[in-house]
Amino acid sequence: MICKITNKKIKPFMSFGKMPIANGFITKKDFKKEFFFKMEVGFSKKISLFQLNEHPKPHQMFNKNYPFFTSSSKGMVNHFKKYSEWVKKNYKKDLKNLIEIGSNDGTFLKNFNKKKINLIGFEPSKNVAQISSKRGIKTINKFFNYKNVKKLKNLKRKINIITAANAICHIPNLKDLIRGIDFLLADDGLFIFEEPYLGSMFTKASYDQIYDEHIFMFSASSIKKIFDLFNFELINAIPQKTHGGSMRYVICRKGSYKPKISLKKILRKEKKKNIDNIKSCLQFKKKCEISKKKLIQKLENFKKKNYKIAGYAATSKSTTILNYCNIGTDFIDFISDTTKEKIGKFSPGMHIPIVSMKHFQKNLPDRAFLFAWNHKNEIFKKEKKFKKKGKWFAHISI
Ligand code: TYD
Repeated sequence: MICKITNKKIKPFMSFGKMPIANGFITKKDFKKEFFFKMEVGFSKKISLFQLNEHPKPHQMFNKNYPFFTSSSKGMVNHFKKYSEWVKKNYKKDLKNLIEIGSNDGTFLKNFNKKKINLIGFEPSKNVAQISSKRGIKTINKFFNYKNVKKLKNLKRKINIITAANAICHIPNLKDLIRGIDFLLADDGLFIFEEPYLGSMFTKASYDQIYDEHIFMFSASSIKKIFDLFNFELINAIPQKTHGGSMRYVICRKGSYKPKISLKKILRKEKKKNIDNIKSCLQFKKKCEISKKKLIQKLENFKKKNYKIAGYAATSKSTTILNYCNIGTDFIDFISDTTKEKIGKFSPGMHIPIVSMKHFQKNLPDRAFLFAWNHKNEIFKKEKKFKKKGKWFAHISI
């Protein structure tokens, strides 16, 4: 495989087998034409970058039917409120122009005063972009890339802050993204983004963070090295609790701000834990293989005891677990979810029926596989009744 930044050859270190589109919830009539790709991962030693080899084209994932709505989780709505407050507090100068890449349904941008700040969201998926527009947020229903960005000539080098959350790891052509940022960002502007953190995935063996949309899993070491190649500089990295462990990165044009001391500590820690080199990947591979065996054993034990097993939350992450471990309706009767676009369809690849939360509450299982383990506090609070009958479990400790 070829590194998407350096163009150097790298050898994939692990394969998860054939994978469908993670958010490709499907109807029965489309089973036969379902799209699959080979999900392999590799690591670029030069820039410490964990990446997918093959992946579907972005328009196959982000289109008019994208079924992910940021506002579907209360926890995420709160998080985005706090994220916006942090941006306002830390950007002390006049904040005039702010762009969000991958603005989804506008959950982040709605926290800013659009009368005082020129707010623009870039969102390629039409259905979520429409929700954001209806909320009164200027939303460009296009991919953030150089071709689309250079049309905003009047904003050249004028954007004070460009933000993103759980979006940059979705963009295969990072070089083109950085070119777009270079075009728009003011001389003293900041590019602030947060993404699931490679270090957390390694610690937890939460391999379900790897799926078609997550083309990269970043660390502070990789972000520093990537942006360094393009005359930008990483000046801060702040750990976040979201998505089972994320990292917020702050980037500026080289030399325009002093890096924070705390950044050095994080980089040192990554070195110590081998997150900046292939050793940690090979340990991770072993952990995944053990986790797969243990999960299948656990499900077989449940079946021996005649337990009814259900899945809770039809997350993108669940697609990786179910397909990698080959778990279908032989183990799991249904997966319940709050998203109306998913209900009535089947899970990608393994074709487990997706049902409403009402169905879950009326048919409480003995064991529930918590696929949205990253939202466990919110879910445990809501599902106290289930706790009296059954038990939660997951492929990682929860
Ligand atoms: P998330 O972990 O954010 O998903 P992904 O792995 O796709 O990034 O979870 C979002 C999904 O979980 C979405 O389908 C809605 C569902 N969900 C529920 O059904 N109930 C809940 O209480 C929460 C928090 C999420």
